[in-house]
Amino acid sequence: HCCLMDNYGNYGLADDEVSTGTSIMAVEFDGGVVIGADSRTTSGAYIANRVTDKLTPIHDRIFCCRSGSAADTQAIADAVAANVELDGIVMGGLPSVKKAAEIFRQYCYDYRDNLTAGIIVAGWDPKQGGQVYTIPLGGMLIRQQFSIGGSGSTYIYGHVDATFKENMTKDECIQFCTNALSLAINRDGSSGGVVRLAVITKEGVERKVILGNDLPRFYEG
Ligand SMILES: *[C@@H]1O[C@H](CO)[C@@H](O)[C@H](O)[C@H]1NC(C)=O
Ligand SMILES: *[C@@H]1O[C@H](CO)[C@@H](O)[C@H](O)[C@H]1NC(C)=O
Repeated sequence: HCCLMDNYGNYGLADDEVSTGTSIMAVEFDGGVVIGADSRTTSGAYIANRVTDKLTPIHDRIFCCRSGSAADTQAIADAVAANVELDGIVMGGLPSVKKAAEIFRQYCYDYRDNLTAGIIVAGWDPKQGGQVYTIPLGGMLIRQQFSIGGSGSTYIYGHVDATFKENMTKDECIQFCTNALSLAINRDGSSGGVVRLAVITKEGVERKVILGNDLPRFYEG
């Protein structure tokens, strides 16, 4: 059901995904992570059974970004959340992001025949700060400074490679995600969409929604 893995470790060009479109991403900065996804504002049968809020909380400081089938990835996210909750209690506070990503990896492996896309796990913990992990199908786990996924991401590889800089500030990471996701939305035929972002730091989770009219504009041909 899958194509080859790309440079970022993402599979995820299953037929259904190409036709509907989704873009997810996450970036590490000193002190936290920014995660983001596109989202349609419209509803209807076609859209309704897709992931609507692709930024899914796993624990107080850990989120995942999902693309692909809503039902499969939600089932996995729920199972991981239950496991991470226990880990948090054992750790006496905030669970490790890496541990959460490892649990995710195991579930993704178990469900590998039914998954059509990779998952990004991102968050903050006291030991290792902001972290972004990519979990492609097949049981791998890769920590990356940033990760992109979903069908829309195929349009923005060149852009993110050209504009990513090491050690960006929180605000620069927010702009990096907003620009990249706007470009993906423009090219992915999902006009009318919004960009949803979440900034996860020691202090907590700050959510942002950038409406279509407020998205940066680029050449549209
Ligand atoms: C995968 O999907 C098939 C058919 O839809 C189903 O029979 C099977 O139980 C699923 N496997 C898992 C691990 O959910
Ligand atoms: C980014 O920060 C790290 C750690 O402070 C440093 O080692 C590295 O050289 C920095 N990279 C750039 C491009 O400034």
